[in-house]
Parts: sequence; structure tokens; C-alpha cells
Amino acid sequence: MKCRIFLWGMPGSGKTTLGKKLAAKMQVPFFDLDACIEKQEGASVKHIFEEKGESYFRELEKKVLLSLLQQPKFVLACGGGTPLFFSQDELMLQNGTVVYLQAPAGMLYRRVEKEISVRPLLHSALENGEGAKALEQMLEKRSSIYEKAHITFAVKEHKNRISDLLQILQTSHV
Ligand code: S3P
Repeated sequence: MKCRIFLWGMPGSGKTTLGKKLAAKMQVPFFDLDACIEKQEGASVKHIFEEKGESYFRELEKKVLLSLLQQPKFVLACGGGTPLFFSQDELMLQNGTVVYLQAPAGMLYRRVEKEISVRPLLHSALENGEGAKALEQMLEKRSSIYEKAHITFAVKEHKNRISDLLQILQTSHV
């Protein structure tokens, strides 16, 4: 098993929660890309989006991802959009094992609904009561990239069980 694990998936797919548990089991450091960006910038993701815009955020995201790649071992919870920009999908696929945490739109919606204020990309759609549709469209647009992952882990079927994911990682040859 490679020692750099990248977790991809939509907002609400459980990248941070699962990632922390996985890193603890594997005894490797855990990083949350959004949290690293917030630390570096001294501002929340929401604030960065609002004050500086998405392209500024994506540039920062790229820099922080590149700096994390200096480390040999980790579990990294990416942001939902990380693999979609600057060929970062290929970069991650070549530098570790990528796991896509796949979840149906309805499940994602139930999970993010309560946190709309901190999710800038979904904020306006969710406020307008268009949340479920917006998430479904986002998932549809992003799926072809997410599905390039080495491993697709269906969080609903596995009920987020970390032991299942660990076993899949141990028996996969990526
Ligand atoms: C984004 C998801 C967010 C965060 C930013 C953009 C996206 O992370 O990086 O708001 O493009 O889907 P989470 O997936 O952790 O919510």
C-alpha cells in the first residue's frame, strides 16, 4: 500500500471524518487541505471566496497541495474541487493512492444542508431552496473526474466503515 492517500469526493462525502480515522489506523499524518489553506491564509475558506474570489482560492489550493507533496506519508482530505483544476487529478494519481468517497446526491444534501453558511459554492443555491438540484448537477459534472480514482468507496454501502476501506486499500495493488 502506498503511503500517500488522497481522498476525493463531493462536499459532505465524509473526506475529513473518514480521513482522520484512516490516518489514525495507518499511523500516518492527516491533513485537511481546506484547513491547511485556512491556516496559511489566516482566513476561512468562506472568507477567501467572498473577499478574493474562486480563482484566488484555486491558486492557493494548488500551492498548498504542491507543498504537501513534499511529505512522504499522509492521508489528505482534498476539497471537493481539488482534482478539477490544473490537472491536479493526474498529479495526485501519480503520487499516491486516490480514493473517491462516492455518495448519492440525496445523502450529500442531507449532510451539507445544516452547514450551508460555511460552504461558499453551495450557499446561494441552498438558500434558494435549490440545494438538492444544485448538488445533483455538481455531482453529475464532477463524476467523470472523481471516477478516475484508483479506488471508489461507496460510503452508503459500507456505512462509512473504516475497516472496509482499510481492507480494500491493503488488498488493492495501487
Ligand atoms: C469546494 C469544496 C470545499 C472547499 C471549497 C470548494 C468544492 O471543500 O474546498 O468550498 O469546489 O467542492 P469540502 O469538499 O471539504 O466541502
